Amino acid sequence: MATAHPALATKAPRSAPAIFQQTDLLSIQDLSPYEVHEIFALTKTIKAKPSAFGTALKGKQYVMMFEKPSLRTRITFEAGINTLGGHALFMECPGGIESREKAADVARNLERWVQGIILRTFKHSTVTEMAANAGVPVINALTDREHPCQALADFFTLQEKFGDLPKLKVAFAGDGNNVAHSLMLTAANLGSHFSLAVPKGYEPAKDIAQAAKEIAAHTGAVIEIGNDPQAAVAGADAVYTDVWASMGQESEAGKRDTIFRPFQVNAALMSLAAPHAVFMHCLPAHRGSEVTDEVLDSPRSVVYDEAENRLHVQNAIMVLLAGARKGVKSASAIRAGRA
Ligand code: CP
Ligand code: NVA
Repeated sequence: MATAHPALATKAPRSAPAIFQQTDLLSIQDLSPYEVHEIFALTKTIKAKPSAFGTALKGKQYVMMFEKPSLRTRITFEAGINTLGGHALFMECPGGIESREKAADVARNLERWVQGIILRTFKHSTVTEMAANAGVPVINALTDREHPCQALADFFTLQEKFGDLPKLKVAFAGDGNNVAHSLMLTAANLGSHFSLAVPKGYEPAKDIAQAAKEIAAHTGAVIEIGNDPQAAVAGADAVYTDVWASMGQESEAGKRDTIFRPFQVNAALMSLAAPHAVFMHCLPAHRGSEVTDEVLDSPRSVVYDEAENRLHVQNAIMVLLAGARKGVKSASAIRAGRA
């Protein structure tokens, strides 16, 4: 549980000591505030001079297995790995990573060949099972439950724009889904005010909301979950939305279009936010649905800054994880130990 982390006992300093303890990046719930700040500090350094990190992943092979489509995540990971001197192997898995063998068995093969595994899956358990069985770092590149790289890039973007994250109010109008989950947990870690407005029946997972509130009790964050987009957006520094039907929910798109319509981020909703408020979206956007062209293309929109920062944040994550020693024993090692 995130609350067990000792760093939660105090507010995170802006320049954290080097204490990154993670061996995978699966969920924001696993990170302490210190670790989030450490990711941001390294992101800033790498973004300022990527060439200084040109050999950071030298000789390392990364496999990327994706069950769902991607533009931003695929290209930013591949470009980032290349820039840092590593090599990326992309494997599209539309039938599912586990269509031929169990995730644990896939992991026991992969760890013999590559130094890192990047996964985009439907089930979150596919990612956690791979991580538990691979002796090399596993990175969550989106599951139905979380999108941690996205949320970290988004709050890094907010830090660039506003500086002081604990004073920020971030409003999210839309689905209480993977992106909202990771944003809520990141806001909790950083002491921000996160106000989520969802249609009834589309609330975030109870355990994630509970975890975010527990973290918030230590960091001073405010986590609000309701059904009123106008109330959520009132006075916000940032207004965020995501698609109404996520990948895998395409058959519900018609029904969701009606249910989510009152949560559309348009000029009228944006007018309730602070005058300096920015508009955010993980992309891809469905123009005319969750956001209007007028808002998406306005000077307030920082969506391409978020997309750019995916690259820099992920580079920092890969560098921090590159030296991770997991101590996971593969099946053959376990058998050898018994012999
Ligand atoms: N935001 C995001 O993850 O985009 P892709 O689905 O294109 O990777
Ligand atoms: N919630 C969206 C995010 C896409 C980046 C989805 O899962 O499809």
